[in-house]
Amino acid sequence: MRLDIFTLFPEAFDWFQSQRSVQNALAEGSELRLFNYRDTTPLNAGQVDDSPYGGGAGMVLRVDVVDAALRAAYPSEERPRVVLLSPTGRMLDDALADELTAEPHLALLCGRYEGFDERVHEHLANDEVSIGRYVLAGGELPAMVLADVVMRKLPGALGHAQSAVEESFSQMLEGAPEYPHYTRPVLHRGWGVPDVLLSGDHERVRRWRAEQSRARAAQLDPRAE
Ligand code: ADE
Repeated sequence: MRLDIFTLFPEAFDWFQSQRSVQNALAEGSELRLFNYRDTTPLNAGQVDDSPYGGGAGMVLRVDVVDAALRAAYPSEERPRVVLLSPTGRMLDDALADELTAEPHLALLCGRYEGFDERVHEHLANDEVSIGRYVLAGGELPAMVLADVVMRKLPGALGHAQSAVEESFSQMLEGAPEYPHYTRPVLHRGWGVPDVLLSGDHERVRRWRAEQSRARAAQLDPRAE
């Protein structure tokens, strides 16, 4: 997977890039590149935004600036799927994450201020993704959320190959949340561990986990039962 992130704040991704799952994905051949709109802006003095036509508060990221960044990153080669992070986009869930993980190459556009000039949505982005119906200060955190969920689905990103497959909301668990996990100590302040997990009976453990997962799904959505 090649993941290109366009942002005004590439340094916001320093911590993210140092995470084990990202490091593992990179070691397995994935690529993560950061592009600063300011580096390729055709305007003077690093300008990237402007006041909105018609008046109103805030600044808007300019279409010529975003276009220049994409043209510089992809001068001749075919463009990847361009995903714009927006509070009004398609809601990110496990199925959408699977869909995006299947792409060999993704570009993520992070906005700031009041957002992008509408022509970026219309002509430059192929898709819009939201991480929730609330407005954040910019697309950097949503891009990290998207990059995180996509990268940890790649083979080799997690230490244990099975971990992502059996994760909450995955197909393997029929879209249900994951079952509860316990580890040592077996008793802490009187709080114990379900006997079945100590039984050594793999079939009972498997059935118990499936039941727990279904019960949690029903709690999230009572219609799921
Ligand atoms: N940009 C600002 N808020 C956002 C959100 N909730 N999801 C995606 N991008 C955003």
